[in-house]
Amino acid sequence: MTDEVRLETATDADIDRLMSLEREAFSHPWTEASVLRELYDKDSLFLVAKQYDNAQAEPQILGFAITRMGEDYAELLQIAVSESARRRGIASLLLTETLNRVSARAIPRVLLETRVSNDGAIALYERFGFRRIATRRGYYDAPVEDAAIFQLKVTQC
Ligand SMILES: CC(C)(COP(=O)(O)OP(=O)(O)OC[C@H]1O[C@@H](n2cnc3c(N)ncnc32)[C@H](O)[C@@H]1OP(=O)(O)O)[C@@H](O)C(=O)NCCC(=O)NCCS
Repeated sequence: MTDEVRLETATDADIDRLMSLEREAFSHPWTEASVLRELYDKDSLFLVAKQYDNAQAEPQILGFAITRMGEDYAELLQIAVSESARRRGIASLLLTETLNRVSARAIPRVLLETRVSNDGAIALYERFGFRRIATRRGYYDAPVEDAAIFQLKVTQC
């Protein structure tokens, strides 16, 4: 049996599996309408990591990353990996490809925000060179928590 992880652009055929992962990964998941809006938005890069297993007809979705591509900056809106697939480099694959696409479009920086308690995500972002540049007090609800804003200046290729 060979398992292969591939990065692809999400399509609406992926929506059910994307929503399962959305609900698994986030305490406040986006609605299907919000996810679909990014999927159809020409300014959004929506990457999925799929595992192709010879024994299964449908590939498994291991993770995804959604990024709005602007002229002045790109914004990483969400990145998520299935619990059972974490710490295997899937988010790193998604982020590396996202940063390559940002660089190819000559977008100078990437911004993102996360709960200040999200140690795993913060470790990932810092590993990619993101620097914390600001705090938004009480930005998140349930529980109320500050948002940490991170920025990465992108080297152009
Ligand atoms: C954050 C998240 C996307 C990381 O996905 P992942 O595929 O496990 O990440 P990777 O395997 O690529 O990790 C790369 C590096 O990031 C750091 N890292 C990732 N998760 C970490 C964790 N839970 N604790 C500490 N460091 C972590 C480590 O340095 C790791 O390298 P290592 O495994 O060699 O130590 C995943 O935990 C997730 O989906 N969390 C829930 C959703 C979320 O919070 N998303 C971010 C806000 S939008």
